[in-house]
Amino acid sequence: MKQTDSQFIRACFRRETEYTPVWFMRQAGRFLPSYRRIKGARSVLDVAKDPELSSEVVVDAVRALGVDAGIIFADIMLPLEAMGVRFRIEEDVGPIVSNPIRAPGDVATLRRLNPQTDLPYVYDGIDKTIQKLDGRTPLIGFSGAPFTLAAYLIEGGPSRELSKTKALMYSSSETWQLLMRSLTDMVKDYLAGQVRHGVSAIQLFDSWVGCLSPRDYHKFVFPFTREIFASVGSVPRIHFCADSSALVEEFRRTGPEVLSVDWRLPIEDVWRRCGDNTSVQGNLDPVAALVGGAEMEDQVTGILEKADGRSGHIFSLGHGVLRDTNPENLRQIVNIVHTRAGRKTG
Ligand code: CP3
Repeated sequence: MKQTDSQFIRACFRRETEYTPVWFMRQAGRFLPSYRRIKGARSVLDVAKDPELSSEVVVDAVRALGVDAGIIFADIMLPLEAMGVRFRIEEDVGPIVSNPIRAPGDVATLRRLNPQTDLPYVYDGIDKTIQKLDGRTPLIGFSGAPFTLAAYLIEGGPSRELSKTKALMYSSSETWQLLMRSLTDMVKDYLAGQVRHGVSAIQLFDSWVGCLSPRDYHKFVFPFTREIFASVGSVPRIHFCADSSALVEEFRRTGPEVLSVDWRLPIEDVWRRCGDNTSVQGNLDPVAALVGGAEMEDQVTGILEKADGRSGHIFSLGHGVLRDTNPENLRQIVNIVHTRAGRKTG
């Protein structure tokens, strides 16, 4: 069996599967003892820039959890560093940018990325990871989406309301368009390189775009996301957003095969609203995976029942694994999903 015939890729394309495939966002992370051991005193960016280490943490996570896909070990901020953005990643907080963008002149300081020469470690990491995987487990590539990247660049760090981002979007069309254009070009080049190096699927993380109304999304973000998905040929495309309840129809129209949604949205609603020809990834609350036990089992089973054995379901969490999660809980989820989701019922 090749990667393209794996249960995960089959589910992305809504082909029939033997069981429901499962993987977790942030499955290579601090909750995993092997990750903490490999990481040692290094920063997450140091690990991402070392192909030997980054490939190791991906493969370790796949083996430790028994999941159906790996995801490249990088961070959405990496390509921005190569474009001239200065930032640090603060533990338990996220990226803090020291030169935030507020005006057209600031956008002009962003360099056009040449992924192969600027980010050789990402592509070497992909080559090494694919070599170390067993030849069957697909590797997912990813990028941050322009809106979510723009939000970090404009706010200067994580923010609940994203009010600076929205204020700039509403009041300075020129800056917004320039910034989104520059980020869209980067994401297209970055993902094209990942596909050339053999990733089996790509996921676009628009983690924070759920703060927009459908009208704003359509006007300020939609054309860029659609352009990115249109540029990715041949491999399945996954769109992720936290808090996507108001926007799933818009996301579907940007062109991806798979919508990755969080726990706020009953999973069957995505099929009802977007059509049965959509694949859906999700959507267990990461807190359920953290607490484990009967509540977790109940929620996992509930999602499987609502998905009703459809071929187009990939089981996952609604967002990343929380750091105090016991890996045993995730192994238990994999086991339940692989055995109980079982065969297609209809
Ligand atoms: O298995 C994987 O998913 C690992 C690869 C990965 C990382 N970041 C490594 C990382 C991926 C897919 C990301 C994406 C990412 N990074 C997103 C999109 C996904 C999402 O969560 O919405 C975002 C918004 C970021 C920015 C970022 N980087 C945040 C918010 C944080 C968390 C800060 C913290 O300490 O909790 C990071 C740091 C980061 N990136 C970690 C990892 C494994 C944790 C820090 C560490 O291990 O030192």
